[in-house]
Amino acid sequence: MTHAEKMRLLIDDQYPLAAKYDPEWMFENKMGCQCLWLAESLSRIMELRPGMRVLDMGCGKALSSIFLAKEFGVTVFANDLWISPSENWKRICAAGVRDLVFPIHGEAHALPYASDFFDAVICINSFQFYGTADNYLSDHIAQLLRPGGQFGIAVWGPDEEFKGEVPKALEPNWWPDFYYFHSLDWWKWHFEKTRLFSIEAGDDLGGDGLRVTERWAKVMEKDDALHRGGLMRWNRLVARRNSAYAEDFRV
Ligand SMILES: C[S@@+](CC[C@H](N)C(=O)[O-])C[C@H]1O[C@@H](n2cnc3c(N)ncnc32)[C@H](O)[C@@H]1O
Repeated sequence: MTHAEKMRLLIDDQYPLAAKYDPEWMFENKMGCQCLWLAESLSRIMELRPGMRVLDMGCGKALSSIFLAKEFGVTVFANDLWISPSENWKRICAAGVRDLVFPIHGEAHALPYASDFFDAVICINSFQFYGTADNYLSDHIAQLLRPGGQFGIAVWGPDEEFKGEVPKALEPNWWPDFYYFHSLDWWKWHFEKTRLFSIEAGDDLGGDGLRVTERWAKVMEKDDALHRGGLMRWNRLVARRNSAYAEDFRV
């Protein structure tokens, strides 16, 4: 596939807000997914209004942070570990959102924010790296998100949890840490069991999770069973921080 064909694939009329952005910019700053499709998909099931404080956890190169600020006028704290805030600041300034997006270096277990500070938290292709421990939601996200605030994640995972071993077809490309990829049902249970969150919406990007997986595999020229779709897909989930227990669980 030529580079021009890849650039055309990155513009998808199912995601008209993301389609306004330069495909070269999206391709150059990609970190494992087309994060603007996922951000747009999440924005359809979240409340995002000007003046809201949003934490973009694991924002990578801050593309989704820039997108949310430009499209919804929210104030975004673009938090990442691997990408430096100075590098992200250059991108934020170049995109013209220096008054709305603040780049922050923060490890997920030592985040530098006040309790109840955020109206919303979003997390795109990142939560699996640190959010699967039973106490992560209660000890971290539930502290930062005000009661009544929303937490939205976009995660890639198997259609169903594997029973025992990884399916044979996936084995050649499966790394030991890939067990952090979970099904939508697993994520729902992960949130609900804490009683600190109520699931508001959760699906395969509104029926588009497999198509997005297939399209991204074409852009990346990957044709193995793990990447090409059929066994793995994109999902989105939005949970609201319950008001009940708000004080009981402060740590
Ligand atoms: C696959 S990248 C996705 C980046 C971006 N959301 C996107 O979709 O382009 C995962 C991001 O999670 C962040 N991350 C991983 N472990 C983290 C941790 N322990 N604390 C904070 N961020 C973390 C990394 O810095 C990385 O940028």
